[in-house]
Amino acid sequence: MQGGKFAMYMRKILLSALLFGGAQTTIAQEPQFGEPATQADIDKRFWAVFPDGENLPDGQGTAVAGAMLFEDNCHACHKNPPDEPSELDPEDAADVLFGGHGTIGTDGSLATVGSYWPYSATVFNYVRRAMPYTAPMSLTNSEYYSLTAYLLYKNGIIEENTVMDKDSLPKVEMPNKDGFVSAYPEIPEKYRTK
Ligand code: HEC
Repeated sequence: MQGGKFAMYMRKILLSALLFGGAQTTIAQEPQFGEPATQADIDKRFWAVFPDGENLPDGQGTAVAGAMLFEDNCHACHKNPPDEPSELDPEDAADVLFGGHGTIGTDGSLATVGSYWPYSATVFNYVRRAMPYTAPMSLTNSEYYSLTAYLLYKNGIIEENTVMDKDSLPKVEMPNKDGFVSAYPEIPEKYRTK
């Protein structure tokens, strides 16, 4: 898949949906302009999971369940090594979620969840927030834990039966955890990348 072209195509579809689809109904449900947001309004939207695991929800999963979920919800767009070889073409980088270990900083750099991402908890955060690409947040929290476990397992980071939940996931150390420096050292320590 040509990741860039595909993303552009999807953005066009999404834009048309916003312009011609449910825009009015969505706006009607939001607090009106000038109306103070209540704490409940804020809590409903503030569900980012932080690198240390803050805000991780209840639920649990393993790579065993994640394999089936990946097949049904992800494989259409993402390769699934070792069944299919990963490609080094940067155009296809979004396809590739596995492998590339030890390539960061070299000429053949391949940034994947396994080789590049510094935190395990933010894998859960991103996948729940953004995937499947056409239906983000459509799965249960346990299913997202299973998919996260599958991504970590297939990258050789955890075992196939290791249960991922809000306690175990943030303890998983990613291979590239020391590969980042903070561009914003004034940010409170717990939210810094390093
Ligand atoms: C319809 C196609 C499609 C499906 C289905 C899909 N993805 Fe994606 N995925 C993409 C695209 C396109 C990107 C790049 C998005 C971007 O950069 O904004 C992406 C990016 C990602 C990334 C980030 C990769 C990186 O290192 O930057 C992860 C992780 C991911 N997807 C996981 C999943 C999982 C898990 C599923 C199944 C629940 C899934 N995707 C289903 C198209 C898809």
